Amino acid sequence: MRKVALITGITGQDGSYLAEFLIKKKYQVHGIVRRVALEDRSHRLWRIKHILKKIHIHAASLESYASLVKIIQKIKPTEIYHLAAQSYVDYSFRDEFSTLNTNINGTHYLLSAVKDFSPKTKFYFAGSSEMFGKVQQVPQNEKTPFYPRSAYGISKVTGHDLTRNYREAYNLFCCTGILFNHESPRRGFEFVTRKISHGVAKIKLGIEKKLMLGNLDAKRDWGHARDYVEAMWKMLQKKRPDDFVVSTGKQHSVREFAKLAFAVAGLDYKKHVFVDKNLFRPAEVNTLLGNYSKARRILKWKPRISFKHLVKDMVESDIKSIIKSGY
Ligand code: NAP
Ligand code: GDD
Repeated sequence: MRKVALITGITGQDGSYLAEFLIKKKYQVHGIVRRVALEDRSHRLWRIKHILKKIHIHAASLESYASLVKIIQKIKPTEIYHLAAQSYVDYSFRDEFSTLNTNINGTHYLLSAVKDFSPKTKFYFAGSSEMFGKVQQVPQNEKTPFYPRSAYGISKVTGHDLTRNYREAYNLFCCTGILFNHESPRRGFEFVTRKISHGVAKIKLGIEKKLMLGNLDAKRDWGHARDYVEAMWKMLQKKRPDDFVVSTGKQHSVREFAKLAFAVAGLDYKKHVFVDKNLFRPAEVNTLLGNYSKARRILKWKPRISFKHLVKDMVESDIKSIIKSGY
């Protein structure tokens, strides 16, 4: 029988790649979308507009348990990928309340709905390397203690605890993917990699001259989103539910990302990048580096797209799309 997948956050970066991936695997793909997004299709659904005819969209909200129950009862999904979240760490310092409410309650509502109305459904929770925060061990693996540094990180630790507890207490098939940063041409514009690639494109095309950034010394383990959605799927195909770190095992600073991105466009970052202290975070996560050996061993997963290719992909795609827009 055809498998049925339900994706929360299908309009986001990961949701759009995952939907494409599952369509190729012949799944019937459903997605939850906020009603406001449905009213503004051309803007809010830009990442999935090319596959809209191949998926089923339902209006629902993470804030409403009843709306989630209705969909789960109706479609009885084989797998749920819970990706929706207030995902921007910096914003979580400005609005801790909505970050905690959406990210913690949304996860709790879904788990509870699965337990009561569709207990055979396999559940994926989008955990994050932000859970490691002020890192207690280098590199970080599934056993590294958490030390979150933002409301966002705290919400993901709680979501992870809820997911594990539903697995242990109610015997549900629930997994957390502890994913390190992953980017793509579909990345949101507020995240540093897209801010850089889009900034480079605008400078290259003479639209702007400067790019203001915050902490250039922060280090991240950056992979490509296209690779990472495959790891999510692989987790739900195993016999036993478990949690996995997904990363590249390689680390670069924001400065290195910027240097390479400007170089791709034939520019020198030193002439264009300026530091704005207002863009520093109240509590920074200075360094993240993942050890994905458990995913490699058990899921037979490994990253395929290199850092260089990722940066090139993002910069070239932004240059092309600005040219296409006729700026
Ligand atoms: P993203 O592009 O920011 O997408 C977030 C999605 O969540 C969007 O579809 C958004 O819908 C939806 N959403 C936000 N608040 C919602 C609410 N209150 N109700 C319903 N939907 C809501 O994020 P992403 O990069 O794809 O990441 C996917 C998930 O993985 C997130 O949970 C993120 O925290 C986590 N994660 C990401 C990374 C990474 O590096 N990308 C790493 C680790 C973990 P709208 O379109 O309506 O805003
Ligand atoms: N956004 C942003 N903008 N970040 C900047 C800037 C800037 O102008 N300048 C420097 N940075 C630094 C941030 O201080 C941080 O150390 C790093 O760049 C990465 O910031 P983001 O791209 O905003 O991502 P993030 O690491 O905070 O969070 C992302 O990755 C997490 C996984 O570790 C998000 O995708 C989260 O949802 C995800 O969980």
